[in-house]
Amino acid sequence: MLPLFLAASLLAPAVAAASESRPIIARGDGIIRAPVDAIAGPAPKLEVRQNGVEVANQKAGTRYAVTLEVGTPGQKQTLILDTGSPDTWVNPACATANVPDDCRSFPHFEPSKSSSLNATNVNDVLVYGIGNATVRYVRETVKIGSATIKNQIIGIATESHKIPLGILGMSPPVNGRPDYPYVLDTMVSQGLIKSRAFSLDLRGVDNPNGALIFGGIDTGKYIGDLHKLSMLSQRQSPGGADRYYVTMTGVGVTLPDGTMAQSEPLTVPVFLDSGATFSHLPTPIYQAFANSFGNAQFDPDSGYYYVDCDVTELAGSIDFYFGNKTIRVPLNDFIWEVQGFCILGVLPNDDEPTLGDTFLRAAYVVFDQDNREIHIAQAANCGTNLVAIGSGTAAVPSSTGKCTELPTPTGKGEGLDVTATRAPSNTFTGAAPTVALGPGPAVSKAGGETTGATPQPTAGTGSKNAAGRGREVGAGAAAVVGLVNALAWAL
Ligand SMILES: *[C@@H]1O[C@H](CO)[C@@H](O)[C@H](O)[C@H]1NC(C)=O
Ligand SMILES: *[C@@H]1O[C@H](CO)[C@@H](O)[C@H](O)[C@H]1NC(C)=O
Ligand SMILES: *[C@@H]1O[C@H](CO)[C@@H](O)[C@H](O)[C@H]1NC(C)=O
Repeated sequence: MLPLFLAASLLAPAVAAASESRPIIARGDGIIRAPVDAIAGPAPKLEVRQNGVEVANQKAGTRYAVTLEVGTPGQKQTLILDTGSPDTWVNPACATANVPDDCRSFPHFEPSKSSSLNATNVNDVLVYGIGNATVRYVRETVKIGSATIKNQIIGIATESHKIPLGILGMSPPVNGRPDYPYVLDTMVSQGLIKSRAFSLDLRGVDNPNGALIFGGIDTGKYIGDLHKLSMLSQRQSPGGADRYYVTMTGVGVTLPDGTMAQSEPLTVPVFLDSGATFSHLPTPIYQAFANSFGNAQFDPDSGYYYVDCDVTELAGSIDFYFGNKTIRVPLNDFIWEVQGFCILGVLPNDDEPTLGDTFLRAAYVVFDQDNREIHIAQAANCGTNLVAIGSGTAAVPSSTGKCTELPTPTGKGEGLDVTATRAPSNTFTGAAPTVALGPGPAVSKAGGETTGATPQPTAGTGSKNAAGRGREVGAGAAAVVGLVNALAWAL
């Protein structure tokens, strides 16, 4: 273990690039680009308005969202971009949302005002790490960026709990078999993109222009090579669900002076989940990160580790190793700043470890469902250069990023001890902030229950009520707090 002590002297606060409106770039070449925004928590709205808006929003961001249009004429909807679930739906029930006022601040879809809506009688219950939604499926027109998807099956919530926004689902079918064609499938079948692949660039706290690109990559948004990783098969996945799982081979911390601490080589399956505000990692890693911050305070109610906000101004990073690719997450991207608190962006999960927004902010990731491959690079921003993703086994171009290599830390390396769990030394005694966290991953349905029934237009197919089909995997913040148990992985 290597404590990361706070230096008294601070760097000047970073200045945000102003970016009020995001143009949607229309392309005619099978590349569809939609901006991704960090949605701030609901709390002190005045304070957020008074401070430098973008930075405040980004630092307090609890989930990343895409604005698209549903229906005819199009109604703007803001949906959480979720690589941890496959279903797309609108209209969470705000009265039972985790933060009702926050939920109500986003537009509601009015089915009666759409001429392209085709109702079905199919209902479903979607269960997430945090919360659930009961939806009625319809076929609707959905516009994302320059693409118009016709007859897409989406859900309209009739009830939901703890979910602050509707969801744009981008994961593979978690049960291994789709219940119906999801958005990515339809984009391919309607010829909008050539293969089921997209790239995601959430951007760090000081760079608000995130983007979701279907059918393309932007070589102006990363450094070096896109490193190709195989997605684990559903069978290899820890929870038995098919997700964007890859193998993480180590973790580390780089101190402001360049000194690196690195774990022993590890084999940790982790899946990439943009719908999770935090990263959820095996308990020993969670504790090793926390112990690297000399005076972190543990909150037993939430599992959060509070750190001194001065740390976010320091150089240094939390490091993730994937074979010979290292993604360094700057401290100010890994530490989540909300309502005046600074919280380490990691919670424990020994069952289905996740790299959430606190990792994805620093990574450029291409999700290639057709070839079951994930390509990752260190994110950066040096302009825009879109390259199309074709079809076939080498569809994702191996283009080198145009951005300049970061200097490799030169400090002497030390070991980061992730071999044992240990009791937190300082306890947080304040009142935790109230925030609308992202939903976390879809809970996998109980094995073998998939009916494969495709929602059909109005014909009265009856309702498929899948309530209770899944077990809670506990990726939600509240559910994981008690999980300080045996190691799920070997050193
Ligand atoms: C509803 O679905 C049917 C069958 O797919 C289709 O023929 C019809 O055009 C759809 N109606 C609208 C309003 O899109
Ligand atoms: C990383 O490893 C892969 C194979 O494991 C190899 O092909 C590649 O050349 C390596 N890259 C570097 C920069 O070492
Ligand atoms: C949905 O969440 C609510 C509130 O936590 C809970 O009472 C309900 O049982 C859940 N429903 C399902 C199907 O999980």
